[in-house]
Amino acid sequence: MAGARAERAIKSGLTTTRAPFIEQAQAEGRLYIHQPYELYTDDNHEAWRRLFTRMEDRWRRYANPRFLQGIDNLCLDPARVPRLEDVNRFLSPLTGFQAKPVSGYVPSFLFFDCLRNREFPTTITIRDGATLDYLPEPDIFHDIAGHVPMHTDRAFADTLVRFGDCAHTAAEIVAGIRDEHEQIRRVTSIFKALARFFWFTIEFGLMRGPNGHGLKVYGSGLLSSHGEIAHAIDSPEVQRYPMQLEWVINQYFEIDHYQPLLFVVDSFEHLFDLVGELERWMREGRLDNVSPGEPAVSEPDLRSFLDASRGK
Ligand SMILES: [Fe+2]
Repeated sequence: MAGARAERAIKSGLTTTRAPFIEQAQAEGRLYIHQPYELYTDDNHEAWRRLFTRMEDRWRRYANPRFLQGIDNLCLDPARVPRLEDVNRFLSPLTGFQAKPVSGYVPSFLFFDCLRNREFPTTITIRDGATLDYLPEPDIFHDIAGHVPMHTDRAFADTLVRFGDCAHTAAEIVAGIRDEHEQIRRVTSIFKALARFFWFTIEFGLMRGPNGHGLKVYGSGLLSSHGEIAHAIDSPEVQRYPMQLEWVINQYFEIDHYQPLLFVVDSFEHLFDLVGELERWMREGRLDNVSPGEPAVSEPDLRSFLDASRGK
């Protein structure tokens, strides 16, 4: 039995749904880990190769030019799961960002705080080769091929840092509230606003193309999805609206199907300014009563903000 289990573990390597190394790190409460590169199997590398090579045409057609530049700058090997150290050798000199391996979900405040320190919590497992298309949680393809090329761009990198500032502002606001019930109510509302803004920009954002013509993708959820990147731009079923802050912070979203509603920003400078506006709205109390609904706030997310507000 033990032999069969070991054999299965070796065969699955670092697959998202079956990775003993990750399960052990989680059981021990270790968030930040190293990337045990030797555990990737041929199947894992083959899954990366198939994911990467089938995206190349799509990226050239649909992706924002700065993403394409980022892919070039990172010198990713289409045939092998990347080593984070290699990625960081190209990434850090450009914007100071680094991809840091984690064992799973990072509670919201900590995640934003990592961005503030120019660290990107990076999943190191890879989806099973049999299920290339649908994956509810991030994997290394989503994080490295979808997110990290954008981190090579200075304006985009600075925008991520501003998200970290927003999380600190939220903790500061909550620290000034005495009633615990009101603290929780306020964190919940601000969290929803931040998470929705992040979702409709960093994960699923669209941008006007060069010289204002057409639309290009810059959101990482789209950049790592072979089907949805085309759907987002070409499908008549998708509603696309110019970015409106008051709408986005009140707009619920669901993660288990293609997005029916997307928002368009003018430029990365526009996006950077919007995060500044979001922070101002937070200080003015305009994020305190956003509409209920998705996303739900998990206990670890809530706790991460309350702990930060108490200086823990
Ligand atoms: Fe993501």
